[in-house]
This record gives sequence, C-alpha cells and structure tokens, in this order.
Amino acid sequence: MRLKNKIAVITGAAGGIGQAAAFLFSQEGARVVVVDNDAEKGKETVNKITREGGKAILVKADVSRRDEVEEIFKITRKEYGALHILYNNAAIFLRKADGPITEITEETWDWILDVNLRGVFLCCKYGIPEIIRSGGGAVINTSSSAGVIGVPQCDAYTATKGAIISLTRSLAVEYAPQKVRVNCIVPCAVDTPMLNESSREDPSFDEAKFLATTPARRYGKPEEIAQMALFLASDEASYCIGGIFVSDGGITIS
Ligand SMILES: NC(=O)c1ccc[n+]([C@@H]2O[C@H](COP(=O)([O-])OP(=O)(O)OC[C@H]3O[C@@H](n4cnc5c(N)ncnc54)[C@H](O)[C@@H]3O)[C@@H](O)[C@H]2O)c1
Repeated sequence: MRLKNKIAVITGAAGGIGQAAAFLFSQEGARVVVVDNDAEKGKETVNKITREGGKAILVKADVSRRDEVEEIFKITRKEYGALHILYNNAAIFLRKADGPITEITEETWDWILDVNLRGVFLCCKYGIPEIIRSGGGAVINTSSSAGVIGVPQCDAYTATKGAIISLTRSLAVEYAPQKVRVNCIVPCAVDTPMLNESSREDPSFDEAKFLATTPARRYGKPEEIAQMALFLASDEASYCIGGIFVSDGGITIS
C-alpha cells in the first residue's frame, strides 16, 4: 500500500497509460479522481477500480478549459477533502494535422498547445494550491521522446513536450520548499491508442525496422510507465525533485 490515504488526480485516465496508472494507484491504496473528456471510457476505468474494491470518481473535463479544470479540484476537495498527487498525463497527438512547422495551420498549433501545455498549466495552477493545503505531495508531468530528441512530422506536439520538461524544472524549484515534488516522465513507444495514432496507422511507418532498432526490441506496456509514476507519486521518491525520468526501451539513447 504505497499510496495509502493519498488522493490522486490523474488526467487522461480513461485510456492508455493514465488508465493503467489509475488501476495501479488504487491498488496501492489511493483514492483516484479519474479525469478525462471521454466520459464513457472514464466510467469503465472507475467501474473497474470499484469492482476490485478501490475508490474512484469520474470528473469529465477537458483539461484545456479553465472552468472545467477548476471544477476538477473543487469536486476533489468536496469528495475527498485533500489532494496529494497530480498526474498530468492527458495529451493529444494529431498525426494528420500536426507536421512540419511550415505546414501546420494556426488552428492545429493552438489546439495541440491548448491540450498538451495549457492543460498542464491549468491543472498545476489550480491543483498545486490544493496539494500545498493538504501538506504537500507530488506532481508528475508527462513529456515524450519528442521532447528530448528530434522527432520529425509533429512539431506542435514536440514543442509542447519540450516545454513540459522546462516547466517541470521551474515548478520543481519553485514549489519544493512547500513540499511539492515535481517530476517528469519521458515515455516512448508505449502500446496505447496514441501509439496507433502516432505510428501504427501511419502508412509510412515501418514497424519491423522500428522494433529492430529499438534496444528493448519491443513496445512498452502502459503498466511499465504506471510503475514509474507510482514510484514518483510515493514517499519512496522523497528526494526526487525536478527529475526527468526516461522509460523508453532505450530509444532516446540509441
Ligand atoms: N504512448 C506512447 O508511446 C507515448 C509516448 C510518449 C509520450 N506519451 C505521453 O503519455 C501520455 C499518455 O499517452 P497515452 O499513450 O496513454 O495516450 P492515449 O491517447 O492512449 O490516452 C490519452 C487520454 O487522454 C485523454 N484526453 C485527450 N485529450 C484530453 C483533454 N483535452 N482533456 C482530458 N482528457 C483528454 C484521452 O481521452 C485519453 O483517454 C501523453 O501525455 C502522451 O503524450 C505517450
């Protein structure tokens, strides 16, 4: 029970890595606020947690909307009275609309930045005060290989994921004295719906070649990223502040 008595908000918890983290956090004793703009899938996450004896509620919210984000933390305070963990996981990858910067429309650029960066800004703006009020805790942000190495064809996504790394570091130094540890996970090639969108459904993607040049020779599982998030959320990571934690099968070092 590494998260016993902890309250965790996880964004994008209806699918992929966020859903795996919601299950794992609840198994480790946390009460989980499942946040997603997909209410149907979000309900499935909550139902699975409660069927297995855990505690979770769903807040349907678009993280890019201030009023909806404010509501997440109001509901969390009303239902659970505290907040210790904010896992900023929600993001979008728009393979067909994103691309080289000269070809992206302003609307696409704004849409991706709104969800992937403004969403983290809003969740931190309204979530961090709740963590401080609760005596401290952890913020976990989510970057990507695209934030640390050059990945073509997704310049708007890349811009957001690079910014998340810088933001993690500045938040970490700002809020560590108030007992809020801010860290960042850097995943790559994790088997989720986003991997389908970013790679598998791309006709030019050569899966065999990709896997042959990936040191791990396989995709990651959402549960493997969730385990890293669990560590960063738990007291075991009590001296981890502003860290950029890569979990990518070795892709960014090969
Ligand atoms: N899967 C990978 O290989 C990979 C690689 C690098 C980084 N990441 C990052 O990991 C995180 C999770 O990715 P994933 O693969 O699980 O993605 P996913 O697409 O499978 O899941 C993302 C979840 O976020 C939700 N979401 C999207 N827009 C939202 C919004 N505006 N408001 C609220 N919820 C919203 C979706 O409904 C979905 O449930 C993302 O930040 C992603 O950028 C993933």
